[in-house]
Order: sequence, then C-alpha cells, then structure tokens
Amino acid sequence: MKNYIKKKIEINKIKNACNLAAKVLEMIEEHIIDGVTTNHINNICHKYITNELKAYPASLNYNGFPKSVCISVNEEVCHGIPNEKILKNGDIINIDVTIMKNGYYGDTSKMFTIGNISNEAKNLIKITQECLYNAVKKIKHNENLSIIGKTIESHAEKYNYKIIKEYCGHGIGKNLHEDPYILHYKNDKNKIKIYTGMIFTIEPILTTGDGKTILSKDGWTVLTQDKSLSAQWEHTILVTENSYEILTLRKNEFFY
Ligand code: MF3
Ligand code: CO
Ligand code: CO
Repeated sequence: MKNYIKKKIEINKIKNACNLAAKVLEMIEEHIIDGVTTNHINNICHKYITNELKAYPASLNYNGFPKSVCISVNEEVCHGIPNEKILKNGDIINIDVTIMKNGYYGDTSKMFTIGNISNEAKNLIKITQECLYNAVKKIKHNENLSIIGKTIESHAEKYNYKIIKEYCGHGIGKNLHEDPYILHYKNDKNKIKIYTGMIFTIEPILTTGDGKTILSKDGWTVLTQDKSLSAQWEHTILVTENSYEILTLRKNEFFY
C-alpha cells in the first residue's frame, strides 16, 4: 500500500487551493450569458485567478493546454479549449477550474446553462450531479475505493446514461494528477482502500449517447462521437476520520 495520506500542513494548502477554485466558479456564474464567447469567459477567469486570488490557473500550459480553464459545451465531453464560439440559448456548459497556490492544487468543475434548456439536458445534468453526490456519500475510512465507480454506474444505468470511461478522478496535492486514479464505472482494478487523510477528485462524465468519444481538430477538446450531450461535475474531497469533507464546495451549493 503506497502512502497516499497527506500531512496536516499539506492538507491546509490543498484546502486553500480548493477554496479558491470554488470561488472562481461562484464568480463566473453571472458571466455565462447568451452572446459571449468561451474565450471571453476564459479571460475573466484568468484575470480573477491571477489578479484577485494571486494564484496560478493550472490548466494553462498543462501538457501544452493553451488556456486557463477548460470550457466544454453541449457535445463536448471535457478539455474544451476556450475559443471564439458564441454561447447561446439552450447551451449546457462545463467549466473546469484547476488552481495552483503555494505549490498545491485544487480542482473542480460544474455545469452552467443558458436560457431554456431541453428536458433531456436538464435531466442529464441532474443525474450526473447525483452520481457525484452519491459517490461522495460513500466515502469512509476503510471502504474500498471501487465503491465510487460502482455507485456512479448503478445510478447512471437506471436512466440509461453512459459513463465516459476514458477519464477518471485522481489523487491531488503537490501534483494536479497523482495516484490513486479513480474509475467512474464498476471495476475491480481499484483494490485500494480509502483512508483518512487521502485527497482525491471524483469527476464523472455522463452522456445520453453511446459513450464513444473522438478528439476534435484542436487536439484537446474531446467530443461525443454521436454528437449527443455530455455533462460533468467535479469535486476535490478529503477523507476525514469519520466522514469526508468536500473541499471545493461552493457557497450556494446544496449538497444532497
Ligand atoms: N481539470 C482537469 C481534471 O479534472 C484537468 C485539465 S488539464 C488540461 O483533471 F490540460 F486539460 F487543462
Ligand atoms: Co480533475
Ligand atoms: Co478538473
């Protein structure tokens, strides 16, 4: 068993980075409106993170990623590169914020919507968030890490949604992505146990389509192959002695 457990001093730094990441999502809400480009939203986030939070937007230059946040719209699955695309009524949008502060990382994403969205979109967004919430509620010292994937898949399959299997949750700390990696579907690969002091993300992506993906021409943005809608929610979680703590919980977020 490798040592995934964080020291107190590290936990405090990761908590701080997570707090800041959540603040970016709170701040950006009012800017997600009909007629703006995803570049515009990226620029607001960049300025807020660097000037106000005095932090680094860790997506920028991550393996060559060219922007400060990931913005994935409708059939875009994840890692959307902000560009000149104009947001419009009916769009569903994931913004994924990764912050580095004092050498430690925090990572979170949420769905935003513009105007009137279809019932299909509404339901996909809601069930994806419930997948995340249900998985979080299973976190407990000594529990198997594989409970997370099992919980997510059993909720998704009730609604006939497919889980995008290529992307997973991850340990986080001094690195944005570190062990253990956490699958969002039923598996027996995650033989690892959950222990007090571990910090990791859970970030399920669900789609109304067949679950197959393709890479866009920009080299980063992942799309559903059948152009069906996709939704994702992400939190960074600390395992506490008797429970868990959602380090990226937003002020107005109602966790249920
Ligand atoms: N925030 C993403 C995650 O949840 C990682 C983004 S890396 C980037 O793991 F290069 F695409 F920005
Ligand atoms: Co992540
Ligand atoms: Co993320």
